[in-house]
Amino acid sequence: MGQFGTEFCDRFAITRYEDDAWQTPSLEPLRPLQMHPAAHVLHYSSTCFEGFKAYRWSDGKARIFRLHDHVARMQKSAASLRLPVPPAEMLASMVVDVVAQNIGDIPEPPSSLYLRPTLIGTLQNIGAAAAPSTEATLFVLASPVGDYFSGGAATLKLLVEDEQARSTEQLGSTKTGGNYAAALGPTMAAKEQYGADQVLFCPNGDVQETGAANFLLISDDEVITKPLDSSFLHGMTRDSLLHLAADNGYKVNERNFTVSELLAFSKTHEAALSGTAACLAPVGSLVYHGEEFKLRDGAAGPNTAKLRKALQDIQYGLAPDTHGWLTEVG
Ligand SMILES: Cc1ncc(COP(=O)(O)O)c(C=O)c1O
Repeated sequence: MGQFGTEFCDRFAITRYEDDAWQTPSLEPLRPLQMHPAAHVLHYSSTCFEGFKAYRWSDGKARIFRLHDHVARMQKSAASLRLPVPPAEMLASMVVDVVAQNIGDIPEPPSSLYLRPTLIGTLQNIGAAAAPSTEATLFVLASPVGDYFSGGAATLKLLVEDEQARSTEQLGSTKTGGNYAAALGPTMAAKEQYGADQVLFCPNGDVQETGAANFLLISDDEVITKPLDSSFLHGMTRDSLLHLAADNGYKVNERNFTVSELLAFSKTHEAALSGTAACLAPVGSLVYHGEEFKLRDGAAGPNTAKLRKALQDIQYGLAPDTHGWLTEVG
């Protein structure tokens, strides 16, 4: 398998919104999209997307992880961008159809099928900077992906950024392309200057998240993470891990914390990034104002590994799905 996100199944689901209505979605051979150069998305970034996985179990059927929650998050993203909001049942069945169609291409766990619903504003109008796109295209791409940890659970180095934000207050919890564009400059600079893997955005000292993952502090008996607000993306992995942490006797402590508190926690707590791609990836060190701080001894910690395994066991069919997170296909 190539690099994450570079290989695609040869069929995708697609539909359009025009004349105030969604057309019936169809499954089609994957192909380039035709779009007018004045399309709203190309000028005013009217776009949002989702990212989640389906796993193929040994019974030959697939299981989609938290399908309905991802659909709901996409609806929220679309609404916040004033894009036509896809009906939940329509979007969910587009995803199920894509998974069913490509079931034979899903590699076995720990590999999976990464699913990428995408919504773009296609209204032909370069004078619509302050007007919504009343036409849109919605499609669901599928991409077989390998195991993030195939090279071992190497720890990550994060640059702690206490001035710049990843996004804005109104779009922080929207999964829209512009947020990733905004994080790219700081992330590349952190790589070049410090060899950092990611930037931990902490505007005015408020520890929020990295460019594409949520941030958790974990000890032997508690998990600390920022409570949900509009400044950051509400990760499904974060939510799932918090439930599993509670199930496993950890105290779940959703609270705001500052960079100075974070540096104090680094002596006692493990830190990890949570997200669909990597599940729960251990953080080994933080760079702050040019100084490097290790998280405990800098190695991947046992609690991070334990929580990651608890989640992956459900995803891979090795533990019961007690929270009803899986949608069976096939
Ligand atoms: C900015 C951002 N935060 C957090 C996450 C983690 O979200 P999830 O766990 O739903 O994949 C992602 C990845 O999708 C992301 O892009």
